[in-house]
Amino acid sequence: MNGVILAGGKGNRLKPLTEITNKHLLPIGREPMIWHSVRQLCQSNIKNILVITSTEHMGDIVNSLGSGKRFECKFTYRVQEETKGIAAALALAEDFSSKDKIIVLLGDNIFEYSISEHVEAFSQQSIGARVLLKEVRDPERFGVAALDEKQILSIEEKPTKPRSNYAVVGCYMYDHQVFEVIKGLKPSMRGELEITSVNNTYLNKGHLEYGFIQGNWMDAGTFESLQEANNILLRNNNNIL
Ligand code: G1P
Repeated sequence: MNGVILAGGKGNRLKPLTEITNKHLLPIGREPMIWHSVRQLCQSNIKNILVITSTEHMGDIVNSLGSGKRFECKFTYRVQEETKGIAAALALAEDFSSKDKIIVLLGDNIFEYSISEHVEAFSQQSIGARVLLKEVRDPERFGVAALDEKQILSIEEKPTKPRSNYAVVGCYMYDHQVFEVIKGLKPSMRGELEITSVNNTYLNKGHLEYGFIQGNWMDAGTFESLQEANNILLRNNNNIL
């Protein structure tokens, strides 16, 4: 399996910190934010990693990550010229994935615990996709999964009336069909190709599995969550539990 880290976007909610610097290079604990995603993938034995970011910030991202020698992994880089949603960015990974399964991380998601048990579970899954859920206090900020005892019933992106407190976190696992799924998507109301639409397509085919993550999880895209992520990783010395 190969890894994909999505590190584009404008970081609007963190301005002026992101006027010059890419959000994923802001410090969290003792390291740049994106290093956390790299460490998560490497700890799950995913060593072939594609990093996607905007033209504007590619130079800085490459300067920070390098070839991968420091992390004992191998990086490939691709430029995303427009911000048209997470699924549109992921479409750029098609050639890189070489028809293998992929583990996708949003570069601003910080997980206190390792995702490796979920990666392992996905490696046993013959087809389909896997998403990870976390109970949160502010579900309207995220993709939200409605669940019964056994399965996900639906996923809604940033609902005004969430049907549960379970956020779909920014770690997605897909088989190679994902690229065909993306080609069939239409832009959402906000003009983006939504990752939630990708997940719902798998769900409707009965091919979406899920797991719950342990420990703290943050989407470090706001000042409050950035501070929270910073506190947690500083306390843990940027180690993943
Ligand atoms: C994105 C996804 C959302 C997911 C979140 C996790 O939101 O669209 O479904 O729950 O990442 O961080 P965005 O970062 O675009 O607000």
